[in-house]
Amino acid sequence: MYSTIEQAPSSSIILLHACAHNPTGVDPTQDQWKKLAHLMRQKRHFPFFDCAYQGFASGSLATDAWAINHFVEQGFELMIAQSYAKNFGLYGERAGCFHFVAAPSSSAQDEVARVGSQLAILQRSEISNPPAYGARIASLILNDEKLFAQWEEDLRTMSGRIKEMRKALKEHLVKLETPGSWEHITEQIGMFSFTGLDEKQVARLREESHVYMTKNGRISMAGLNTGNVEYFAKAVDGVVRGSQ
Ligand SMILES: Cc1ncc(COP(=O)(O)O)c(C=O)c1O
Repeated sequence: MYSTIEQAPSSSIILLHACAHNPTGVDPTQDQWKKLAHLMRQKRHFPFFDCAYQGFASGSLATDAWAINHFVEQGFELMIAQSYAKNFGLYGERAGCFHFVAAPSSSAQDEVARVGSQLAILQRSEISNPPAYGARIASLILNDEKLFAQWEEDLRTMSGRIKEMRKALKEHLVKLETPGSWEHITEQIGMFSFTGLDEKQVARLREESHVYMTKNGRISMAGLNTGNVEYFAKAVDGVVRGSQ
């Protein structure tokens, strides 16, 4: 990642996942984010954050926004495309928020007006009018202290459940002595896990056990629960042993 960013032409737009990287579930550490910010500053790159899991990864809105806040503190001008599909449970409603952060040294008012007018043109030509229902729900929650606190609690519940499922899946695989190391299941963060299963194993899981995942072996941890995690672990155990 460092070398790609280093070799990119100066003033490139670099798309970064704010937290809970999809599909790998592997995020840079805080020190690595600092190094990335330093590198991008040297190359005068423009950070564009894709933020789809704030609060849904660690359970804390602040922790999951750490990287973005770090870049803002470093004085970058940047953009954030934020989805509310997961952290508000608003799948299918196309709800989210676009943020533009002006650099501290700039004439912010001018820039905000220019960016605003460009966005208005872009919106009109691309989608005309966005659906309003999901946005109204998100707005209601974000602007009400009590509902906001309840949402934060729900985020802790949802992210905590995913972490429990990671632990349960790893424990089942270890107990079954499934060949290989399964540490990555609990080391990864967020909704997705890159299991390490290959395309053939994924196809066998589908045909033999009716377990469905993307061809690259990515699973949504949110699909696991106390009632199916053992079944899933046994199915994985079967295909891993079968391909040895
Ligand atoms: C990093 C990331 N950004 C954006 C999205 C999509 O968000 P939306 O459904 O709001 O377009 C996803 C997943 O679907 C994602 O993983």
